[in-house]
Amino acid sequence: METVGIVGGGYVGLTTAVCLAELGFQIRILDIDERKVASLRAGEAPIYEPGLEDILQKHLASGQIQATTDVTEAMPNADFVFLCVPTPAAADGSADTRYLEAASKDIGPHLKANAIVINKSTVPVGSFQVVADRIGRDDIAVASNPEFLREGTAINDFMNPDRVVIGADDEAIAARVGTLYSKLNAEMVLTDPASAEIIKYASNAYLATRLTFINSIAEVCEALGGDVEQVARGIGLDSRIGSSFLHPGPGWGGSCFPKDTRALTAMAKRSGFDFAFMRGVVHANERHMKRIAAKSLAMLEGMPSESTIGVLGLAFKAGTDDTRQSPAIEVVTALVEEGVKVRAFDPKAHVEIDGLEVVDDAYKVATGADLLIVLTEWPEFAELDPSMLADAMKKPALFDTRDIMPVTDFEAKGFTVRLLGRPSVGELGSLA
Ligand code: UDX
Repeated sequence: METVGIVGGGYVGLTTAVCLAELGFQIRILDIDERKVASLRAGEAPIYEPGLEDILQKHLASGQIQATTDVTEAMPNADFVFLCVPTPAAADGSADTRYLEAASKDIGPHLKANAIVINKSTVPVGSFQVVADRIGRDDIAVASNPEFLREGTAINDFMNPDRVVIGADDEAIAARVGTLYSKLNAEMVLTDPASAEIIKYASNAYLATRLTFINSIAEVCEALGGDVEQVARGIGLDSRIGSSFLHPGPGWGGSCFPKDTRALTAMAKRSGFDFAFMRGVVHANERHMKRIAAKSLAMLEGMPSESTIGVLGLAFKAGTDDTRQSPAIEVVTALVEEGVKVRAFDPKAHVEIDGLEVVDDAYKVATGADLLIVLTEWPEFAELDPSMLADAMKKPALFDTRDIMPVTDFEAKGFTVRLLGRPSVGELGSLA
């Protein structure tokens, strides 16, 4: 059984670790954070990801996964080493490779002869060379193997990938990295390192662009008349376009899209290309989140400072406790700045924001509220009883930015309902 070292026990590292353990590899996780390593050893995942903790516990018990802060324990037996360290945004939006460089330098002297080091973090184009330089050994090859995991479905995404992208200067090295995935029967894209690194940025930038496109079409529908759901279906049936990632929402967020779109424009700028189109997409997303706040305020009958808004959802999407760059947080912050009293509930996410009251029950957000806004598409929100919500509210009004609530039931209980890019039944009036 071959051994795989994983440097960085965060989202990407941990998912890679447990999934490769499932595929039969011995796993050695190396992390500089003692608390994280202690919690991993105790079988506790430091992040919420469905299914992950169970697999972690199973392979800890069998000894197949071990976690340590000691590089001399983790590296010497590893045939492959994945670098899964964070690449946070620097002040100009570019990706900060400080951790990547430090990790490469640290592991260099302890690597087994002929081990392959693989970049899994989203890294600036050219990083594979930076890593090779920091490792500084002729017998160690460096490859790029970007990850495409979505939070909330990370295990399934790893085990059933649309494709596995591997970039290396030497075909034999790329093929050897490919053996890690041989049980998955996935489509393989074996390419050069720069192309592999760009594939990651281009995928996220394209998906973010699609979302901004459909959110903009929603605005067109509101301005000119039309129903964005019908429009999305109508365009999505074109096989050249496809139907996924065309659901309007309060904007895109999370740990990847905002960071990677900015990093791509920053990289382009540094090399002399003004990626104005992509800058436009980023700007449109920011504007869209402000528009959500403005539409919410417009639904209030009283002054913002005399109003209460109940918010359902704080995570950047359902299935995760992650609030990084969450559109919900942007909207809440904008509402608080307008003097609105905001009360929020999320089944998993916890945040502290000045002026925001977080409650532990969805019905509590409705108490005395003038408006309810759905900002995260948690399926359980659609199960809430409209009568109970209406009774608790000052005035029953709902702005469902994710279009998940049973609108007819809400309208039947006296709610004024607003959706993005499509009229509610009440707004359609006799046409409904
Ligand atoms: C994303 C990429 O999908 C993944 O391949 C990459 O590895 C990391 O970044 P993730 O950040 O987990 O994954 O989120 P994703 O599910 O892609 O959603 C991103 C944002 O778009 C969220 O804010 C989500 O709510 C929003 N979204 C998504 C929509 O508003 N509408 C949609 O139809 C889909």
